[in-house]
Amino acid sequence: MRKATVRCPALLKTVILTSTMSQFLLTLSRFTAQKQTVDHEAGGGLARLLGQIGLVGKRIAQDLRRAGLIDILGTTGEVNVQGETVKKLDEIANETFLKVFHQSEHVCALASEEMEKPVLLPENWPQAQYMLLFDPLDGSSNTDCNMPLGTIFSVVKSKHKDQMPTMDDLVCNGSEQVAAGYLLYGASTMLVYTIGQGVHGFTLDPGIGEYLLSHEQIRIPDRGKIYAVNEGNYHQWPEGTKKYFDYLKMKDSATGRPYRGRYSGCLVADVHRILIGGGIYLYPGELDKPEGKLRLLYEANPLAWIVEQAGGKASTGAMRILDVEAKQLHQRVPLIIGSANDVRDAVAFNQGRRES
Ligand code: AHG
Ligand code: MN
Ligand code: MN
Repeated sequence: MRKATVRCPALLKTVILTSTMSQFLLTLSRFTAQKQTVDHEAGGGLARLLGQIGLVGKRIAQDLRRAGLIDILGTTGEVNVQGETVKKLDEIANETFLKVFHQSEHVCALASEEMEKPVLLPENWPQAQYMLLFDPLDGSSNTDCNMPLGTIFSVVKSKHKDQMPTMDDLVCNGSEQVAAGYLLYGASTMLVYTIGQGVHGFTLDPGIGEYLLSHEQIRIPDRGKIYAVNEGNYHQWPEGTKKYFDYLKMKDSATGRPYRGRYSGCLVADVHRILIGGGIYLYPGELDKPEGKLRLLYEANPLAWIVEQAGGKASTGAMRILDVEAKQLHQRVPLIIGSANDVRDAVAFNQGRRES
């Protein structure tokens, strides 16, 4: 092809910009259909499931954009199965999942951080073999102050071909996931997912209502310069974790220390920052709560798979998150997640193999 010689630099910049931007008009549905054998068998069910999660994200993003103008801030006055005060937006986000997936033939069971028990959908079975677990709104303490929020999802497959799954069938180990990801409601709304063929990010173009490919094959740096943790819990942490933090905050330019603290109160936002720029997020176990705060099935497992698929690591401090044996739906687990070398350091301190 003849190379156009463009004399005017500004025009050159425009030419380059438009040509690169034009290749980005790759929608989520085209990407999953074209670039990723999304299904573990023919049929496209997983691709359509991801598309439906995108629909949930558009709806939640729309609610969040107007939250201050309609009466959906604040709490419902209830306490959920987690023992946490329920925000109105938690409930609305959860309802959105139920409305979208009750009508769809993609899933035969739904489990949510906001629901004590899963919802089984026998009317969708046996076409629907997938089961969806989700944290409908992550970072709920941020709802009333317009800070970032997220949604986290995990997809597993029913083990029985010839019978409707039971509630226990949703309690699977992280290594059994067939899809996982999150929506980030930040300056822009992003959908980031993996089906085990790398991690890909899409940015919602609200003008056309489409998620467009913006971050293909995300790779996390092997080491970062940021830590995300609620340091207010420092005195509750195990000794090894305290030593790790004391180490991170010591000045040593050769190892890029001290790291900078960046903690948003939203796991999805902190992990996304780390996925793009490197670093480490921790929610350690505490003296009176050794299992920590975060939930295994719909927070730690999906994000652990995403980060591992991008080249990072996710550990409890004692073992790989994706190897943790799932025993019950709302099981909690300590979480150390991020750049491989940073997580390796944190685990070594945690296990007493390093002191400095
Ligand atoms: P959720 O809003 O779904 O309950 O999740 C909140 C989680 C996570 O998003 C965040 O990193 C962490 O809890 C914040 O906990 P603290 O307020 O204890 O730091
Ligand atoms: Mn959460
Ligand atoms: Mn939540």
